[in-house]
Amino acid sequence: MDISGKVAIVTGAASGIGRAVAQVLGEAGAAGIVIADIDLAGANETRERLEAETPAQGLVVETNVADEDQVNAMVEKTVARFSRVDILVINAGICPMVPWDDTTLESWNRILEINLTGAYLCSKAVLPHMRHNKFGRLVFISSAGAFMGSVTGHVAYGASKAGMIALMKVLAKEFAVEGILANAIAPGSIDTPITDSFGVDAKRRFAEASSLGRQGTPRELADAVLFLVSDRSTYVNGATLHVNAGSLLV
Ligand SMILES: NC(=O)c1ccc[n+]([C@@H]2O[C@H](COP(=O)([O-])OP(=O)(O)OC[C@H]3O[C@@H](n4cnc5c(N)ncnc54)[C@H](O)[C@@H]3O)[C@@H](O)[C@H]2O)c1
Repeated sequence: MDISGKVAIVTGAASGIGRAVAQVLGEAGAAGIVIADIDLAGANETRERLEAETPAQGLVVETNVADEDQVNAMVEKTVARFSRVDILVINAGICPMVPWDDTTLESWNRILEINLTGAYLCSKAVLPHMRHNKFGRLVFISSAGAFMGSVTGHVAYGASKAGMIALMKVLAKEFAVEGILANAIAPGSIDTPITDSFGVDAKRRFAEASSLGRQGTPRELADAVLFLVSDRSTYVNGATLHVNAGSLLV
């Protein structure tokens, strides 16, 4: 799978899945990878590793995806540095445990703003550049939670991730004729700091829910992203790829 010369923005690439996506896209020949995250230290670590181990150039842009001005500035910096943007991986997200009884409008809004509004703002900012070049690949990192009705404590999270799928479908229908394909990935439980934060018992339960008896690795998820943005994927549009080792099977 080849993405030679392509320029990708990966949001939330300071950690976990996003960091692995940056690395895998770099290994597959991307010319430039923009690491857009609020965590500057983690983002710099991703860039150092990327540039040491792959031919890709990295660009760190401190970005809160829920802030329209910051998102627009991040895309402008991308184009100023690399002249184009071909791929957007919408990965930045938060997943706090907020049980129904503790859900407040404030906590609801915060989760929706980052996970769903952030996806809208990032798509909106890159689309003029992709339309101009008549090429684009958008990948929304949703969640199995969008399909399970979520697990305990993930009220707003499940809603935000289901919203991402609907947004992805809108863009898939609207822009395919302009060479822009939009798809989603719904990860099951992947071994990252997000799932670490749920504790050892929860991680064990997540692992047991998978047919392989283990969590996925960030690279296993990143390889699925690579397929969707590579030259091997030209007729997949509006789809959701479930990367969960069968954990949704009943
Ligand atoms: N790990 C899993 O099991 C799993 C399962 C389903 C979906 N996901 C989704 O995958 C994505 C990546 O999660 P992860 O597991 O790698 O977690 P992670 O915590 O390791 O990474 C999330 C990244 O997003 C960044 N981020 C958070 N808020 C941000 C904001 N406002 N603006 C910019 N960056 C922000 C964080 O700084 C961090 O670098 C998330 O959207 C998550 O919901 C993860």
